[in-house]
Amino acid sequence: MSQPKSDDRKKQTATLTLPDGKMVELPVYTPSDGPPCIDVRTLQSYGYYTYDPGFTSTASCSSVLSYIDGPKGLLLHRGYRIEDLAANCSYLEVAYLLLNGNLPTRKHLEEFTSSVLAMMMLHMKLRSFFQGFKDNAHPMAIMVGVVGSLSAFYDNDDRATTALRVIAKLPTIAAMAYKHSIGQPYIYPRADLSYAENFLHMMFATPFEEYQAPDAFVKALDLILLLHADHEQNASTTTVRIAGSSDANPLACVAAGIASLWGPMHGGANEATIKMLREIGTVEAVPEFLERVKTKECKLMGFGHRVYKNVDPRAKQMKVLCDQVINALGENCDPTLHNLLQVALTLEKAALADEYFTQRKLFPNVDFYSGLTLTAMGIPTSMFTVLFAIGRSVGWIAQWKESVEETGRRISRPRQMYIGETERPFIKIDDRIANDDGFIDTAVKRQRSLGNDHGVVHTVGQKGMIRTTSFKS
Ligand code: CMC
Repeated sequence: MSQPKSDDRKKQTATLTLPDGKMVELPVYTPSDGPPCIDVRTLQSYGYYTYDPGFTSTASCSSVLSYIDGPKGLLLHRGYRIEDLAANCSYLEVAYLLLNGNLPTRKHLEEFTSSVLAMMMLHMKLRSFFQGFKDNAHPMAIMVGVVGSLSAFYDNDDRATTALRVIAKLPTIAAMAYKHSIGQPYIYPRADLSYAENFLHMMFATPFEEYQAPDAFVKALDLILLLHADHEQNASTTTVRIAGSSDANPLACVAAGIASLWGPMHGGANEATIKMLREIGTVEAVPEFLERVKTKECKLMGFGHRVYKNVDPRAKQMKVLCDQVINALGENCDPTLHNLLQVALTLEKAALADEYFTQRKLFPNVDFYSGLTLTAMGIPTSMFTVLFAIGRSVGWIAQWKESVEETGRRISRPRQMYIGETERPFIKIDDRIANDDGFIDTAVKRQRSLGNDHGVVHTVGQKGMIRTTSFKS
């Protein structure tokens, strides 16, 4: 399926009057859905740039993959509503849809699934990468490193094989990161298990004991991955596209996406949300917490979104799923989890009735209930964002493919509004005035008194030689 060119969508023209009175005609494109886009590419030839930090008004590319209608709370993948996909498809079905353009036939789905499963094993040499990480290393740090290192193993693949590798290998790397953190042997994928079952098997089986994943958990995990599959030009996807614009190795680009996802404003919000719920602790403490949010002491994690100005449709699905998983646990459900669910429900209700949140159109996003669901399934908190990364891997690689195949594509290289010093005369070192409070001076002072990361204090000797003066135990 070839991607429609933006130039074919030119319908109108916008006229911009510059400060010197010059009129500039700018093409306006009509997308399939969403606001019209003014093409400002020629503006630099008139000596002007546009200024849009955070890309709030900038369409950085054209895409056919996914679409969000923020005010309506609508999410489409290749034109299909997320609710319909969630009710009828598996994660790999949606992955195929994103990569191929249409939903697979039964035969195509079977072949695609077995190809993904066949690629889940890792090269044995990759195992040694894990040994370099401390036991308590955050699994997202391991993901960034090990996924990036895949680029050293596969640097000559065609795009479709790369896509298969990304989808197949991320769960294996993720489960190995977890096993490394708890000091257990790595567990390998199995051809007789589904994609979601394989992840749970690699996480929870040991050479001593098999793990039989409850059906409810397998279905829930598959749905969680599906709900995260793609989401327009979010921060991590944009990172992958920008990294790919220099023709970098796609697996290294995916590692860049993982790094971007990690932050608590993006994929790290699922981990931050469960920590926030634990910190609040009781239903009674909710009003006081909301007051702190309103005075901007902290944020209500799992709430708000750049594009949705209505409930995130993924959040609605996640809330139902959370309820189902906790119910499936029945009497085995830890009472602290029940309590956290009550805190979350109370928090949501109170926020949705509060002017601070309604005026700013802040609603629950996908991360509000995902942490509770994953906790109920026995997934440790530090793995929450890793699961987001596994789900989003197909979105990243589909968007990477789309971006590198775009006609007339150019390296991503934004302009800036420079607000620093204008050119000034150079000052020789002996004539400079000391400024001890600069950004880096504080860290230099601290390092000189405490020593380096290995506890060694260095001073600079007379001839500029570094001399070790003391060791800390
Ligand atoms: N809690 C309290 N206030 C908020 C929140 C929040 N979660 N989100 C936005 N606001 C306020 C913000 O302070 C600002 O207030 P004011 O107008 O008084 O300055 C107003 O709402 C507009 O917010 P914004 O900062 O312009 O919103 P943004 O589009 O730049 O940021 C966001 C979007 C998702 C980063 C932000 O809502 C946020 O930090 N949410 C919490 C973290 C979170 O849950 N992230 C997951 C997003 S969904 C998963 C994903 O796809 O990554």
